[in-house]
Parts: sequence; C-alpha cells; structure tokens
Amino acid sequence: MTELETAVHAAQDAGKLLRANFHEPKAVDEALHHDLKLALDKESQDLITGIILEKYPDHAIYGEEGLAGDQSSNHQWIVDPIDGTVNFFYGIPHFCISIAKRVDGELVLGVIYDPMVNELWTIEKGGQPHLNGNPVTVSTREKLEESILFVGCGKDEEALTTGLVRFKKGSLKARKMRMMGSAALGMAYIACGRLDAYIESRISLWDIAAGQLMIESTGGRVDLVPHENNPDVYSIVATNGKIPIEEIL
Ligand code: IPD
Ligand code: CA
Repeated sequence: MTELETAVHAAQDAGKLLRANFHEPKAVDEALHHDLKLALDKESQDLITGIILEKYPDHAIYGEEGLAGDQSSNHQWIVDPIDGTVNFFYGIPHFCISIAKRVDGELVLGVIYDPMVNELWTIEKGGQPHLNGNPVTVSTREKLEESILFVGCGKDEEALTTGLVRFKKGSLKARKMRMMGSAALGMAYIACGRLDAYIESRISLWDIAAGQLMIESTGGRVDLVPHENNPDVYSIVATNGKIPIEEIL
C-alpha cells in the first residue's frame, strides 16, 4: 500500500465511523460559545492515527485533536478528523475528513473525503487532483460576476470587521457568497471547479493543508499569511487563479 493509499484507507475508515454515527446522539466533550468538541472528533483522529502509525511508526501526526508519533520526524501527517464538526453535530451533511502529508515542510499528498456523498479527492505532488478517480481542475471562470465565493469569518473584532467588509464587497460583485462550514471541503470544491474562491482571516493548518496542494496543483492560487503568535494559523485567500479577487480584499 502506498502512502496515498494509506491516507485514503484512513479517511474512508474514519468516514464509515462518522456516517454510522450521523443520525445518533453525539457525546460533547467541550462546548464553547462558537465551537464544539465531540468525542467522535477524538475517536476519528485515533482511528486515523492508528492506521498511519501502524504502517509508519516513526512518522509524526499533527492533528486537530493532538499530536502522536515521533514529532522529530521530517515525515508529518496533518490530520483534521472532522472538518465541519458543528455541521456534523447539527445533522447537516456537509463535513469531511482531511489528511495531508509534508516531508521537510513540503506538502506531498492530500486526501479529502466527504462520507455522506462518498466523494473522495486525492492529490500527489506533481500530479493532478482526482475526484473518485477522475481528474479534476479548478474552474475557468475569470469574472467575479460569474463566480461563487466561499467565506469563513473569525469572531475577534479585527477579523470580523475585515470579514464583513469583504463579505459586503463580495456580495455586490460575485454571483453568490456561501458560508458552508467546512474549510477543507470548500477547498476541495474549488479544486474541482464547483466554487471559485475561499477567504478566511483565521484558519488552522489542518483545515487547509490537503486542499492547498489540490488547488495549487491545478492552476489555482493559495495565499497564506501566518498569524504573528501562531505560525500554524493563517489568513487565507484561495482562488482558481483567474478571478480578480483583489477587487474585494
Ligand atoms: C472549522 C471549519 C470552518 C472554519 C473554521 C474551522 P472544525 O473547522 O473548517 O469552515 O470556518 O475556522 O475551525 O472546527 O469544524 O474542524
Ligand atoms: Ca477543522
């Protein structure tokens, strides 16, 4: 089994777990005002970690739910065991599992899996993204008026102010704005041409790593600005590489 196949296997097994629990009551580990941590976030990550470390015991796991393996390894797996946890908890079937791998800090593969509609995006460095085995690309749309933009909005004062200004400009210029609740799945949608851009002022590495490689591999563009106090949190602007996104920034 190749590394990509291992990532696919892990994402699909985690997907099975999430699908089986979608209609069941879900244990909440931590309820914050704007977020939730479920027991299933942890269970999903443990399952993925088990599959990857069984095959590559000396690699590092860097996940939303914590670290595992040998953190000094130059082989790092970046895992979001449920991206769109709030959607999942509220019974909205729009969430995914995202797994990426970096070697010496460089992205080499990515997998994004939507278990509810059984859509699997894969990418290997130097190749083209695939959706359920078929090659896909970013959209060819060049005009904001024809595009659909996907946004996320931070909750701190500055992020909210910037986000709302962009939301207003985007609403006036784009065909539609969407706020769907899973950054990783939104990026997979850009990589296969469903959406044209994604903007968020505060997003973590595990939410975007796999999607970044997919978008960049097919002519799209992902601009990241790391946050001052946390280099794994970014402000992101991702596009199909063609629409004039600067008009709304
Ligand atoms: C969240 C989703 C959401 C984004 C948030 C993330 P989670 O991840 O990706 O789209 O706007 O910033 O935290 O908490 O569902 O894994
Ligand atoms: Ca996430």
